[in-house]
Amino acid sequence: MAKLRTVHRCTDCGAASPQWAGKCSGCGAWNSLVEEVDEPRPVARSGRSPAADRPVPVTEVDSAEFSPRPTGIAELDRVLGGGLVPGSVTLVGGEPGIGKSTLLLQAMASLARSGARCLLVSAEESKHQVRLRAERLGALDGRLWLVSETSIPGILAAIDEVAPDYLVVDSIQTVFHPDIGAAPGSVSQVRECAAALVHVAKERNLATLLVGHVTKDGGLAGPRVLEHIVDTVLSFEGDRHHALRLLRAAKHRFGSTEELGLFEMAEAGLNDVPDPSGLFLGDRRPGVAGSVVVPALEGHRPLLVELQALVVKTSMVMPRRSAQGLDGGRLALLLAVLERRVGLPFNEREVYASAVGGVKVVEPGADLALALALASALTGDAVPDGLVACGEVGLAGEIRQVGQTARRLAEAARLGFTEAVVPLSAPECPGGMRLHRVGSLAEAIAAVGIGTRRRE
Ligand code: TYD
Ligand code: MG
Repeated sequence: MAKLRTVHRCTDCGAASPQWAGKCSGCGAWNSLVEEVDEPRPVARSGRSPAADRPVPVTEVDSAEFSPRPTGIAELDRVLGGGLVPGSVTLVGGEPGIGKSTLLLQAMASLARSGARCLLVSAEESKHQVRLRAERLGALDGRLWLVSETSIPGILAAIDEVAPDYLVVDSIQTVFHPDIGAAPGSVSQVRECAAALVHVAKERNLATLLVGHVTKDGGLAGPRVLEHIVDTVLSFEGDRHHALRLLRAAKHRFGSTEELGLFEMAEAGLNDVPDPSGLFLGDRRPGVAGSVVVPALEGHRPLLVELQALVVKTSMVMPRRSAQGLDGGRLALLLAVLERRVGLPFNEREVYASAVGGVKVVEPGADLALALALASALTGDAVPDGLVACGEVGLAGEIRQVGQTARRLAEAARLGFTEAVVPLSAPECPGGMRLHRVGSLAEAIAAVGIGTRRRE
């Protein structure tokens, strides 16, 4: 018997290497190479070949055919730039348990209710389980078909039988192609199965959604392996201990990747969050030292997020610094600037900083708000309730402008904020907010009244 040739493939990017190595030479990921049987021969896809394309003038290409159709889930449609394009393939990646199956079941039910034929291939859960979930989500509709199938030929047969307009395969890591020797979830299987599904999507003009689990330990081939063969890659993120879920496009052939979709995981599934700032600021207590609101920007979407800091005396030589939802490196930098340029000492003090609501705020535009929160926590002086701050802090303690300041401030004004600390060069605020224009962190601290009372 001929010896099987094996290669070592990266579960992150799919790059092959003859020998095992700790680090992937393709993408630099550590510990991501796994040994797989090499499959040099091309795999027969569905056995049919599409009609040969013929060149046409660009003006004669029908643009309406490829216009997006709304799914009816507003936040999903926002990220997709209107909806799903017929014949497109969208990969929805995210960690197990984040809510991918829930989101796609809701989307399919909504499409079915609007009259489309939808087929949900459940390769992980039984039809019974999916039905129970659909009942709970109010997602029962006769036009939504279920099949519990894991093999590609079986899935293709189900597609032939149902002739759906929309297809979901949940998940791409649990389906397999019988012509491939490797195990389900391996790089070769995931790639070939996805290629077969892309082929049928284009052939039948079938809008297809694939679920892809992202696992940190690299046990399964990650969605990055598929990035180049699908049209759109969405990532579904969130902190499992919070209800908030964020949907972003990492790649989108039909539109912008700058949109952000927001959902709240509730008892009966995912709810759209059209006005996120309300969710983030709902439980904010006014007049508390160490709290400052930043008009952050996620893609195109301004989000008002409360940043909190707590400073506690300690006798430890290496006092603790903790940053939750914030960049630990920027926290260290701001503490250094506050000490050297403003004269506020944080040595012998533990520092805790967090972005409230399970959201991550790692952009430099949050520097000023975080620095003010730290100064406020240290001195015990609260900033005014209706105040936001937005700007980058430089090493010299200078305040620099960040992108789209006017949009950020307009959102803050819309939500009832009345004052903003901004860099000298900031544009006029459309909402008529009172601006404190500051050149340095020391000026910013003085402008909001921190340090005017007795120090602790
Ligand atoms: P699920 O969609 O199964 O996640 P994934 O497909 O990404 O693995 O959802 C997982 C979690 O969502 C589950 O732990 C429970 C929670 N959940 C709710 O809180 N409410 C609901 O209505 C549903 C369906 C799930
Ligand atoms: Mg699932």
